[in-house]
Amino acid sequence: MTPLCEVSALRVQYRRGKEVVRAVDEVSFEVGRGETVGLVGESGSGKSSLGRALLRLEPIHSGRVLFEGADVAGLHGPALKAFRKRAQILFQDPYGSLNPRITVGRTIEEVLIVHRWAGDRAARVAELLELVGLPGSSARRYPHEFSGGQRQRVAMARALAVEPVFLVADEALSALDVSVQAQILRLLIELKEKLGLAYLFISHDLAVVRSIADRILVMREGRILESAPTDRLYESPSHEYTRTLLAAVPDPFRK
Ligand SMILES: Nc1ncnc2c1ncn2[C@@H]1O[C@H](COP(=O)(O)OP(=O)(O)O)[C@@H](O)[C@H]1O
Ligand SMILES: [Mg+2]
Repeated sequence: MTPLCEVSALRVQYRRGKEVVRAVDEVSFEVGRGETVGLVGESGSGKSSLGRALLRLEPIHSGRVLFEGADVAGLHGPALKAFRKRAQILFQDPYGSLNPRITVGRTIEEVLIVHRWAGDRAARVAELLELVGLPGSSARRYPHEFSGGQRQRVAMARALAVEPVFLVADEALSALDVSVQAQILRLLIELKEKLGLAYLFISHDLAVVRSIADRILVMREGRILESAPTDRLYESPSHEYTRTLLAAVPDPFRK
């Protein structure tokens, strides 16, 4: 079976004045259906650039991203629209991506409208909110009425509205208090099991990644330094850099 997402020799670069910043440099890996791949590395190592390029939110300089067998760089029209449903992103700061002037119900409903969801939209909104552990009645409330963790739940409900199979979670827990991080992490794990989602779970925090990822990629300066099943990476990291990352974090989520 073709992997859900197949990345080969991907390069993403930016121009900064005369200089070219190679944020992602010849990166290759796969994400299987229902699999969670953790992506770790220091700030500036290229994690977000990689995650965004997979979703075509950043231009692919060279190399290839296949999603369900199709080259994402070549998608347009209905195929691009279908891809935009199948693959979603969850950001660190949902406050920045939720419109403060409209209710969260309306925010979620807009996604259903854009993607021409056929059915009772209000019922679907309530169902989505309940799926992420919020009361259906919270549809009437505005983003500022929610806590940080609740806003991340709303962002998750919005992402799930169009029934994606792949989610890039980019530092989705990083802005939250540790106790709230654990709750949202549990929710993400529960949802992936329930819905069969695959994640590219990006975090600078290896402790968080450990409890969700099946496999981990360690990124440094635009390259994948190491890739291993989660337990193996923690038990016997091959690189000094990985050992340093591992040593740097306390681990409240250890399984
Ligand atoms: N839009 C941009 N323009 C120029 N440089 C960028 C841009 N986005 C990221 N970079 C640079 O690319 C590198 C990787 O950044 P990023 O992908 O955000 O890493 P990470 O998510 O691991 O912190 C950094 O050197 C960063 O400064
Ligand atoms: Mg980042």
